[in-house]
Amino acid sequence: MDTLDYSGRRCFLKTVGAVGAAVALPNSVDAAPDEIGLHARALKKGMFFGCSVSVPVLRADPRFRAAVLKDCGIVVPENELKWSRVQPAPDRSALNFTFADYIYKFVQQNGLQLRGHTLVWSSGVPAWAQRQMGDMKSATAAAGFLQMHVADVVRAWRGRVVHWDVVNEPVAEDAKSSIWLDKLGEAYIDMAFQVARENDPGALLVLNQNLVEMDDSYQGSLRKKLLLLLERLLKRGVPVDAVGIEAHLSGDLKVAVKEYTSLLREIERMGLKVIVTELDVWDGRMSGSVAERDKAAAQVVKDLLDISFSFKNCLGALAWTLTDLYSWYHETPKKWRQDGEINRPGLLDSNYSRKAMWNAVASAFDAAPVR
Ligand code: XIL
Repeated sequence: MDTLDYSGRRCFLKTVGAVGAAVALPNSVDAAPDEIGLHARALKKGMFFGCSVSVPVLRADPRFRAAVLKDCGIVVPENELKWSRVQPAPDRSALNFTFADYIYKFVQQNGLQLRGHTLVWSSGVPAWAQRQMGDMKSATAAAGFLQMHVADVVRAWRGRVVHWDVVNEPVAEDAKSSIWLDKLGEAYIDMAFQVARENDPGALLVLNQNLVEMDDSYQGSLRKKLLLLLERLLKRGVPVDAVGIEAHLSGDLKVAVKEYTSLLREIERMGLKVIVTELDVWDGRMSGSVAERDKAAAQVVKDLLDISFSFKNCLGALAWTLTDLYSWYHETPKKWRQDGEINRPGLLDSNYSRKAMWNAVASAFDAAPVR
């Protein structure tokens, strides 16, 4: 089902070197220490920082654009490159990059880099594609259908994006919820990566996974499944370059320090890179005053990033919620707070002031070893 909606209440790189070389620094390293933006801090370590952006917000809010330029060297379209947006109708002539192009223009005008998100996911697939896929009689036809989509999009965006989230959230408890897995088995992952590599050999190819950071039994089971999946993919020679750790953290849980560290150690051992791709903190179940909640959420972020950045194969991080003003959590009533207060999942508050979470990200970059 396509649940993506533009309306609502809502209001790098092949190598590390590429980021440093290609990005015109949006924030000066000569500024007073507390003025230095996050990407500038990241760059000092050979890393990057960025956030997700969406067309309605970029269009409507100059303060958001300014905030992005202050803190970010890379952005990722929140929804604009998802299947339902780029091909809302079956006809291939319906391929439509108008919204994604708007973001690309913003990126070009401001010397930023761009991540591609996302080619194959169980969500964000238009109804027509789900139907067509469901009706496929042979695995060959189903494979062709998937491969055509990946090829069409990657070819069109070749040279524009530095990374592709090729497969999104492949590891889930309820595997059956993916039409791809249903029709093609795990081979859908192999195909997607192979076709992405063929059509844009210069892009870093990422397997992007959620829910593997916190101390929680469900997340523990996903950590195990993720590692087993990666082992199988690499054994089959699937061209995966990096693992995206989404990091939609939960403020009412703790980071699984030991288990998350060993997950990253294993990923490093496999020779893969890591990117923290969608950082924010869901605070729907957090208690205490605003200041107490912000502080606790910042601590969760600090715990996560300190571990992540201590690994030199971790290339950088992006926030999914830069400012509390615009967050995907606002879209979903079950994510709202019971007390009626607005969610505060971002690094900046609704007025674009830095929160404790911003400081947590800054100090994690400051503490990171140079790559
Ligand atoms: C979310 C967007 O933020 C929402 O606007 C949309 O309605 C649903 O998708 N993991 C991902 C992202 O990889 O693509 C999701 O983005 C958030 C969870």
